[in-house]
Amino acid sequence: MARFRLSDGTPVILRALRPADREVFLAAFSNLSDRSRYLRFHKLDPRLRERDIAYLTEVDQNNHVALAVFGPQGGIALGRFVRLVDEPDHADLALTVLDAWQRRGVATLLLAALMHRARAIGIKSFQASVLDENRPARAMISALVPPDHREGAAWLYRLPTDPDLLPDNRLVARLRAWHSDITRRLRPNG
Ligand SMILES: CC(C)(COP(=O)(O)OP(=O)(O)OC[C@H]1O[C@@H](n2cnc3c(N)ncnc32)[C@H](O)[C@@H]1OP(=O)(O)O)[C@@H](O)C(=O)NCCC(=O)NCCS
Repeated sequence: MARFRLSDGTPVILRALRPADREVFLAAFSNLSDRSRYLRFHKLDPRLRERDIAYLTEVDQNNHVALAVFGPQGGIALGRFVRLVDEPDHADLALTVLDAWQRRGVATLLLAALMHRARAIGIKSFQASVLDENRPARAMISALVPPDHREGAAWLYRLPTDPDLLPDNRLVARLRAWHSDITRRLRPNG
């Protein structure tokens, strides 16, 4: 677990998601707008069945890593990656920030923490599938890497987990600053 301050001074806590966080996870899901749920799950009105909830919360933090960010009132963001079976140094990435907390640098912090954790367990790159219409996520990931190819309504991005391999720009500078801070302070298992 580690405490950070967003650039506006808000204190947040970052830690690994635990199976006991089921209620935190469900509360965050219910606080997410329909639009954000659609952009995250690529489905209109996604319903979580019991087995989806178990899959998304009972993670082993090695092949499936999930990190949560907590604000003063509870969970505000979740980020995860799932190692690919046939390419174990590569993983599928997903980030979700509650609507009220977007545009405050939370996803940048979360991505830096996921990169840190990924590198510690031998994952060299992430892939992210982002709907063409998802302007916020496309703006964010395009600042890191160009899209690799299109898959139907989505773009697939492949990005290195080493922030030094990213281009120099404002977003990457913030990502690297979080990554250095995390490397100094976060224990490998969060
Ligand atoms: C995409 C998402 C994770 C970004 O989270 P966030 O905490 O708002 O992102 P940050 O504040 O760290 O912003 C990082 C950069 O992303 C880009 N960005 C984020 N939101 C943006 C928006 N609404 N419009 C344009 N650019 C945006 C900007 O480049 C921003 O840097 P800047 O603030 O210096 O301009 C968030 O919008 C989200 O959860 N959306 C719903 C779920 C989803 O789409 N997940 C992505 C699928 S993997």
